[in-house]
Amino acid sequence: MDFKVADLALADFGRREIQLAEHEMPGLMAIRREYAESRPLAGAKIMGSLHMTVQTAVLIETLVALGADVRWVSCNIFSTQDHAAAAVVVGPDGTVDDPKGVPVFAWKGETLEEYWWCTDQALAWPGGGGPNMILDDGGDATLLVHKGAEYEKAGAVPSAAEGDSEEWKIILDLLRRTVTDEGRWTKVAEGIRGVTEETTTGVHRLYEMFKNGTLLFPAINVNDSVTKSKFDNKYGCRHSVIDGLNRATDVLIGGKVAVVCGYGDVGKGCADALRGQGARVIVTEIDPICALQAAMDGFQVTTLDEVVGTADIFVTTTGNFNIITADHMSRMKHQAIVSNIGHFDNEIDMAGLAKIPGIVKTEVKPQVHTWTFPDGHNIIVLAEGRLMNLGCATGHPSFVMSNSFTNQVIAQIELFTKTEQYPIGVYVLPKHLDEKVARLHLSALGVKLTTLTKEQAEYIGVDVEGPFKPDHYRY
Ligand code: NAI
Repeated sequence: MDFKVADLALADFGRREIQLAEHEMPGLMAIRREYAESRPLAGAKIMGSLHMTVQTAVLIETLVALGADVRWVSCNIFSTQDHAAAAVVVGPDGTVDDPKGVPVFAWKGETLEEYWWCTDQALAWPGGGGPNMILDDGGDATLLVHKGAEYEKAGAVPSAAEGDSEEWKIILDLLRRTVTDEGRWTKVAEGIRGVTEETTTGVHRLYEMFKNGTLLFPAINVNDSVTKSKFDNKYGCRHSVIDGLNRATDVLIGGKVAVVCGYGDVGKGCADALRGQGARVIVTEIDPICALQAAMDGFQVTTLDEVVGTADIFVTTTGNFNIITADHMSRMKHQAIVSNIGHFDNEIDMAGLAKIPGIVKTEVKPQVHTWTFPDGHNIIVLAEGRLMNLGCATGHPSFVMSNSFTNQVIAQIELFTKTEQYPIGVYVLPKHLDEKVARLHLSALGVKLTTLTKEQAEYIGVDVEGPFKPDHYRY
């Protein structure tokens, strides 16, 4: 088996944590039981690009239990938990000397070149060809396949342009080495039945491609299942934003002034958590609806420029770019903490920060750096501007990821087994499946659901068994 992880000797530790996680992931385990016999993913060749954590290990082993052949990478250079990666490679029945699990190409602290190399490896099936399904988080695997096919059609990979990011140059280099006259990427794209996308940012990319007419295979937008974005993005970040701050800095949050940029699902979870720790929380927003929500939830809402010089902790949650600029950072207080929990690292202008004349970067420990300005004051930047909850801590806990990943597995089954029902486009799972995911998590929390009477169901115009809300309901 081909794979590349940090250290297979960590597999036992990983396996013990996977076993603990399985108990906290009732949705995934119920799906394993439901489909143990029918194995609807038999024949599926799934390439996954999603943070290689303990929780993801339970997802991967669920896909395998349902019959899939899987290859995996992390979707971020800092988010891999090396013990989880090792345990997945060794597998439940293998040993370090005789691994029998799933090929994983991921370790914590990859360079960007290594990151894209890993993605390329996981997209190449032993014996030739590619996957027939992608499970993506942020859309990098989908992007590589699309760009490869696009440049093969054009007959050449373009040169990098002035102002292109370092990462884009790396992608172009990789494609220059891997596009072939026979059309390697074109064939990979043709073989893919569909992609299931995990996060807001990846979903934006998919809708853009569909709008431009460039999307090459159907996609299920897992993010916008209610049981994903209204749980993982909100309650998951409510947990893991504090975990990231604590493990990185252990600064006392109570009494500090914290700025949360963006009050979408992630921002709501982060602002709530910081307030829960006793921080005085300020929100920035561009959307009047979200700004009004933040105000009514009791947060001061103002611009970053107003508060940049007085706040202690900054968290960007927008999925947008250039939210905190180099100029903002130069105006911050001594030892202000700057962090991002959005998918990509461009929310904070790290390249601009590095270009300030005389600035000095010092590693406190991996993924925690001070940047000292020429006047002697410094700021603390977490995870080099990448998502801090996965870079500095271990991301979301199992229970909330069980909701997200149960949606992922159901979406993979939908696209793989009902391919002809999904012409090229971007779809969300039907509401009855969303409700099913929630249902699978109720008993673990001791929730007793009230059952509608037939008369009540008729009165509000729904079925006794659901769905209980129209598609436009916002929760
Ligand atoms: P969302 O779209 O619900 O929220 C983003 C908010 O930012 C919106 O309300 C938008 O109006 C606001 N915004 C945009 N530009 C802004 C600006 N210049 N200043 C202030 N506010 C601005 O998206 P969601 O679901 O909250 O996701 C946000 C990001 O977090 C995405 O990149 C997503 O992929 C990522 N994500 C990260 C997770 C993690 O574990 N680190 C988990 C889930 C999502």
